[in-house]
Amino acid sequence: MIDLKSGEDVSRMRAACTAAARVLHDLADLVVPGISTAGLDAAARGLMLRHGCESACLGYVVGRLSYPGHVCISLNDEIVHGIGAPDRIIREGDLVSLDVVVRRDGFIGDNARTLLVGKVAPDARQLCQDTEKALMAGIAAVRPGSRVGDISAAIQAALAPGGYGIVRDFVGHGVGRKMHEEPQIPNYGKAGTGTKLLPGMALAIEPMVNLGTHKIIMAADGWTARTADGKPSAHFEHTVLVTETGVEILTLP
Ligand code: MF3
Ligand code: CO
Repeated sequence: MIDLKSGEDVSRMRAACTAAARVLHDLADLVVPGISTAGLDAAARGLMLRHGCESACLGYVVGRLSYPGHVCISLNDEIVHGIGAPDRIIREGDLVSLDVVVRRDGFIGDNARTLLVGKVAPDARQLCQDTEKALMAGIAAVRPGSRVGDISAAIQAALAPGGYGIVRDFVGHGVGRKMHEEPQIPNYGKAGTGTKLLPGMALAIEPMVNLGTHKIIMAADGWTARTADGKPSAHFEHTVLVTETGVEILTLP
């Protein structure tokens, strides 16, 4: 069963997503060489207070693990769910993926982007550009009557020329009162297949794309996913709403 948002729920989703976008926007300004990822996480906590929301990641339980950070901060070959720590310092040339998921008034807003710190290798820079373009291509496939597979196929097609490794172990998702709702939204797939999109569906679309292999390795902390070959990875995400006529991007600051 997919939860369709209407009326008051849509207003609340908009407010949660705007807050998530503002936190991500403000946090991105703090990403400079020398700051620790623990410092960024602490700053995120303050920004959430300022923007009237709270972390949906902190204390999020998967299996027997509870996520210890306010935001996910993933560096270079880390794909998603990296954890801020005092000894993980941002350096010139880093790729920094920030994933901000907040709760406000009972609803979740989810968005992410990969930042380039100073001079970054051209192939990694291109990877980030192409991943963001793939996200926008996926969003452009959203309208009532199209299918989840149309989103997946649009993302895959946008990335095909780059020969990238599209991550398969993590996918986009429905979102609303809970961070992860139905349907799952893979970043690869066949057009015309899967769940039909209806007005009121809220979707977190989030391509995770590797410069090399799509294969991942899980770190000993149980959260951090990194590329199996150590090459860089990028992640861009918006929460969107299927409207009567098309799509509305909810996570704009
Ligand atoms: N955007 C990520 C996701 O949808 C956020 C995860 S928060 C965590 O999986 F607590 F699970 F890390
Ligand atoms: Co998400």
